[in-house]
Amino acid sequence: MSQATTHLSRNGLFITFEGLDGSGKTTQLRLLGDALRAAGHRVVTLRQPGGTPLGDRIRSILLDSHSETDLGAIAPEAEMALMFADRAQSLRQVILPALAEGSIVLCDRYTDSSEAYQGAGRGLGTDRILTLHRAICNNFQPELTVLLLPPLEVSLRRARGRNQRTARQTGADENRFEREDDGFYTRVHEQYCEIARRDSARVAVFAGDSSIATIQQLILSLVQQRLAAAGLTPAQ
Ligand code: ADP
Ligand code: TYD
Repeated sequence: MSQATTHLSRNGLFITFEGLDGSGKTTQLRLLGDALRAAGHRVVTLRQPGGTPLGDRIRSILLDSHSETDLGAIAPEAEMALMFADRAQSLRQVILPALAEGSIVLCDRYTDSSEAYQGAGRGLGTDRILTLHRAICNNFQPELTVLLLPPLEVSLRRARGRNQRTARQTGADENRFEREDDGFYTRVHEQYCEIARRDSARVAVFAGDSSIATIQQLILSLVQQRLAAAGLTPAQ
């Protein structure tokens, strides 16, 4: 990916959603996408890992809790590299083309997740993640990151409840990360707080245990301000 490709292509707006499993990212991303589409904007949504055919394969390796029975223990460095392989593919195949045509791209997780989960959770360190981000993603960052930070125990309770319901209803198993202990998730939570302090211009934090509707309104008004500032009006 050349430097020129990543920087000339930003006609749209790139927004990422971050937070622990169960923090409400997927819910809020969907609501924001619906509201922006209803207002006439072109919106592309995706998640990481996933969002491309290659990414979907990587996702099933990384998230299925049976993977390690088939493949053996996944080395933390291999997990980190697979997250970036997925990201490189979705940048080239989905994110950059969508931004080039002026769409708003809403992405459920991006490099902050690697910093929080692999960097802090697995203990690989922030420097390695940011070095890979420069090498593989040309340091391409969103204009805005919505960071949902309810109390740690609230996120974990919601994620575990949702995963049990999904497993009962569909048989899907994406629980490899949810088996981690509370120490792992405490490190992830603390790293998200650190990212928010460090990158305060990019990262907007929504803390506390507010209702879905309250958070939805706060996110929508922030995004409307950013769209106005960027001069992004709905497509005709
Ligand atoms: P994530 O994508 O961050 O893992 P989800 O959006 O899938 O989180 O939400 C996990 C569960 O918590 C879902 O069942 C969702 O309905 C519920 N949920 C999300 N946000 C809230 C909220 N603010 N208050 C109560 N429940 C919520
Ligand atoms: P996802 O379904 O997006 O999470 P959620 O439960 O919040 O809806 O699952 C993605 C999992 O992958 C999640 O546990 C976080 C993890 N992950 C990383 O460890 N590193 C990364 O770089 C990314 C993108 C995700």
